[in-house]
Amino acid sequence: MTDTVLDLVNVTAGYGPTHVLRGIDLHVRAGERLAVIGRNGAGKTTLLGTIMGLTKLHEGSVRLRGQPIDRLAPFRRNALGLGLVPQTRDIFASLSVEENLLAAMRGDASLDEAYALFPRLKERRRNGGRQLSGGEQQMLAIARTLMTRPEIILLDEPLEGLAPVICEQLMSVFEDLAADGSRSVVLVEQHAEAALAFATRAILMANGAVVWEGAAEDLRRNPDLLHRHVGVGVEA
Ligand SMILES: Nc1ncnc2c1ncn2[C@@H]1O[C@H](COP(=O)(O)OP(=O)(O)OP(=O)(O)O)[C@@H](O)[C@H]1O
Ligand SMILES: [Mg+2]
Repeated sequence: MTDTVLDLVNVTAGYGPTHVLRGIDLHVRAGERLAVIGRNGAGKTTLLGTIMGLTKLHEGSVRLRGQPIDRLAPFRRNALGLGLVPQTRDIFASLSVEENLLAAMRGDASLDEAYALFPRLKERRRNGGRQLSGGEQQMLAIARTLMTRPEIILLDEPLEGLAPVICEQLMSVFEDLAADGSRSVVLVEQHAEAALAFATRAILMANGAVVWEGAAEDLRRNPDLLHRHVGVGVEA
């Protein structure tokens, strides 16, 4: 495991005394594209929250580049290179697009970079957060996290509720982000087809545990397994 950047070792975690995740072992390599698939309530958001320090870790350890980060607050983990794009998007509705980006900006990050990735946000830069469409809000949530210069990007169901054309645009941005291999991208999705086309490796979650792990391509070729763990309506 010498080339892993993020390791979860025998992690049990949840909210307060409640255990949601059970015995999770997860290893993310530098530059890797990992898909995390599972139905509603499987524990996907809790997994990302545990990596970021937003849940209660009961057992086990979370390590970044080999160092335990279990005791670090979320903002410290962010400063060390972990960036979460939350499922709830969490943009500041009362601030403009540009103000949202400036509030998150760190180091040598630039607005130009965000606007090059999302030209739509440049057009909308003076608009308030609450004036944006769902797709634009998601773009802003992603751009805002990128302003913190993450080495590992955790995306929590970024395609949820968005039109197919917007989903395609976002997937192409994720391709760009992962292209040079300098960032690891962890993509949590119920849109299994898109996520598995993007990822090289995948895990399946159910009831707070990892129930399958392997090459994304192998999962794509196993619609029965996907149906069992993501449910009806999945085109594998
Ligand atoms: N803040 C919380 N307090 C207590 N229990 C919670 C909390 N958030 C989630 N849970 C519970 O933890 C379990 C896993 O939830 P989680 O949000 O991680 O699932 P998920 O896979 O992200 O689902 P979805 O696809 O709907 O986003 C569920 O049983 C849920 O009810
Ligand atoms: Mg979730």
